[in-house]
Amino acid sequence: MIFKKIKINKVILKNKITVSPMCQYSAIDGCPSDWHYKHLGKLNLSGAGLLMMESTAINNEGKITHSDLCLKNSKQEKSFKKLFNYLKKLNDTPIGIQLSHAGRKGSSFIPWIKSNTPLDKKNNLWQTFAPSALKKDKNWPIPKELNAKKMELIINDFKNTVRKAKNIGFDCIEIHMAHGYLLHQFLSPISNLRIDEYGGNLKNRFRFPLKIAKEVRKIWPKNKILGARITGTDHLKKGISINESILFVRELKKIGFDYVCVSSGGILTKTNLKFKKGFRVNLCKKIKKKTSIITRTSGLIKDIKYANKIIEKGSADLLAIGRSFINDPMLIYKGAKQMKIKNIIEPQYNRMFD
Ligand SMILES: Cc1cc2nc3c(=O)[nH]c(=O)nc-3n(C[C@H](O)[C@H](O)[C@H](O)COP(=O)(O)O)c2cc1C
Repeated sequence: MIFKKIKINKVILKNKITVSPMCQYSAIDGCPSDWHYKHLGKLNLSGAGLLMMESTAINNEGKITHSDLCLKNSKQEKSFKKLFNYLKKLNDTPIGIQLSHAGRKGSSFIPWIKSNTPLDKKNNLWQTFAPSALKKDKNWPIPKELNAKKMELIINDFKNTVRKAKNIGFDCIEIHMAHGYLLHQFLSPISNLRIDEYGGNLKNRFRFPLKIAKEVRKIWPKNKILGARITGTDHLKKGISINESILFVRELKKIGFDYVCVSSGGILTKTNLKFKKGFRVNLCKKIKKKTSIITRTSGLIKDIKYANKIIEKGSADLLAIGRSFINDPMLIYKGAKQMKIKNIIEPQYNRMFD
């Protein structure tokens, strides 16, 4: 049942619904802005069991746009802490943060300024890095291939950000290994053509993301939640398949990850992905069945009754909902009413649903 609480380590989620991480491209020097207070404040009152903060870069090069959140220095840490305290004052919903490096998808315009467009010189483009010197799309620049020294720096930046997330008090961290960002770029044979120990066969392509996973595991407290967003498939003939994905998730589980959120697509602009209601549920179900790790699914889950069905059928343990919460912050309460579940909403709002 979707409204039954779930305990992961020492963290209790009051239901199985997560607010999906959603980049707002509204940070100032990597720090949360007033917009984040409004946006996350609203989502924190949605009644979800877990609030995931958007993809946050581990360093400047790892941003998607100049206006991404970044958690690298002490000024940023202080500013995140202030926002975190504000959200915790609103209620005690566990709060997670997603940590990422954009790799070759970085140095982009903010989508509402120019969608899927790399920055130009006038707009302070920066040199991007990736496993291989392969551009993500026709009009995109060629990234530089990462060398061993630079990869070591990225590992250190992940470690540094995880320490900061721990200091702030986040309940959960999620390493972004999907949507075509750097760690996904290592995993996918489409973006990784390396001939060293980080490319070629599966074991080699897994190596860099798993190295980071191991380091993160050493730092992140065992009583909190550690997860990853992964790709179930690239939706491309030559890309990652569900069977490869299962093998990767097994490795994450061995390292001690608590959950995976099964996403898909994003390694190239155009894939064979077809967007429809609950389009990733089956991928999630397969991964759950074959790995027994806690799984979360996402993608066009627009109503709570349907979401409950997914949980009841055992296709996923958790759900992430994104755009529907923006469209309707009262989604959960309305769903609870439909399902005749009582005592979900604060008493002040009880009569709003008569
Ligand atoms: C504006 C926007 C920003 C997003 N930013 C992120 C992000 O930071 N990290 C991430 O993993 N997914 C991101 N996504 C994907 C969502 O988390 C979610 O998986 C996707 O929107 C599908 O779920 P939905 O149909 O419930 O919105 C974003 C989606 C949108 C619409």
